[in-house]
Amino acid sequence: DTEKSAIFIIFGGSGDLAHRKLYPSLFRLYKTGLLKDHFAVIGTARRPWSDDYFRGTVITSLEESFDDDKKIMEEFAKHFFYQSHDVNDSEHYIALKNLAAKLDDQFEAGHNRVYYMAIAPRFFGTVAEHLNSEGLKTKDGYNRLVIEKPFGRDLDSACELNGNISKAFPEDDIYRIDHYLGKEMIQDIPNIRANNPKFEAALNNKYVSNIQVTLAESLGVEDRGGYYETAGVLRDMVQNHIMQIIGSIASDDPEAKDAGVIHKNKCDLFASLKNLTPEEVDKNFVRGQYDTDELGDEKAYRQEDKVAEDSQIETFTAGKVEFNSKRWSGVPFYVRSGKRMPNKASRIDIVFNEKVSELGIKPNTVLTLLIERTNDHSILINGIDYKESGQDFIKFPEEPEFTKACEAYESLIIDILSGNRVHFTLWDELRSTWKYIDSIRERWDSQKADFPNYISGTMGPDSAEMLLERDGNSWIWD
Ligand code: BG6
Repeated sequence: DTEKSAIFIIFGGSGDLAHRKLYPSLFRLYKTGLLKDHFAVIGTARRPWSDDYFRGTVITSLEESFDDDKKIMEEFAKHFFYQSHDVNDSEHYIALKNLAAKLDDQFEAGHNRVYYMAIAPRFFGTVAEHLNSEGLKTKDGYNRLVIEKPFGRDLDSACELNGNISKAFPEDDIYRIDHYLGKEMIQDIPNIRANNPKFEAALNNKYVSNIQVTLAESLGVEDRGGYYETAGVLRDMVQNHIMQIIGSIASDDPEAKDAGVIHKNKCDLFASLKNLTPEEVDKNFVRGQYDTDELGDEKAYRQEDKVAEDSQIETFTAGKVEFNSKRWSGVPFYVRSGKRMPNKASRIDIVFNEKVSELGIKPNTVLTLLIERTNDHSILINGIDYKESGQDFIKFPEEPEFTKACEAYESLIIDILSGNRVHFTLWDELRSTWKYIDSIRERWDSQKADFPNYISGTMGPDSAEMLLERDGNSWIWD
């Protein structure tokens, strides 16, 4: 790849996301040469920091993940500048504009701008509007707006946010991040499907009994109680990550290369989500909130910092998602995500039925795609590495090397710099998924939950098991 040039303006540049994910990713790109001489990063936030102090914080965050010579980190950090900024103050945008122009001359950055919103979501709209109204956008380079999640907290607020940002930026310049779309396995799924015709032929309601998506975490909410109280796992993980994972495995035409076609197929899939009546929510979705662990050592969710003593926010959910499409009607997609489960696991389990033997796949085979790899395995057949399974209906086109979670961001930043929007979410996808999630949320909000209802370090409330048992199924990961 050739060197890219751009000025990054990171709103929320002093924050956690920037330091944990963005700066290490930019540093990796620096080491590969994709970013070299022609880039600069302006970090903005309210607090008054000097460039030197800012650079110090960047280096400290790098030292946590890399053992490179400090010299190269210092060279990298010379590209970093800090501007104290109040998102509502127009004058500050002028200062930002001037600084960006100055750095563009200094680093010959080609008038390209990446505006990265790593700030509290309530500021997304304001910042986008000011970038436009205060004339920050350059005429002869690109101007790309990157938006972190959460994109709204329900359909109405997402619509409003989308209205605000699309007044300021054309859709083609908007990059809505779902970092799961930056993960290797998710990006590989279309290739895996396209390169394994038997597998692809089996991916439909004739041969699939059910599909299970599990995103389990062992940690609790840590220091994000304030945010989490406004979210809950339904908004934090299901509306975005789980839906996008389903999009990668269940949408049509994995061979499509064109971003427009890929997005359209995903939009069509989400448009066929079978929406739930309040009674169906009660039947098809369960919620949980963690209590302390067996020994009473860990905090219960309600004891976490910035969490209400009687919080009704769920930290676990399991549900049955269905589609009204020709390909998928009748196939349950069981989804599950929670904090304080026994370990970290991100996986898709595809359970085939008996008829799949028509295609030369052993009846009732379970194929597991590990998004979070365990011991270097990526694909399992009936629980063992696919290479040792004795079945050959699936092959990994190119076995990737074991990498760190942080790389999702690296790959997404490369896409942003290359103008590739395939791995970002479109408004139409969000509209359908929010509509679906809203029906669950509304029902839950109308009824008091019996929380806490699961012990930290366990698989969530028993109702999650019963959900599948009722259909004669069971969780593969348990
Ligand atoms: C984030 C959620 O989007 O994803 C977090 O806000 C969650 O609550 C995280 O912990 C999980 O991501 P990953 O990449 O660690 O599986």
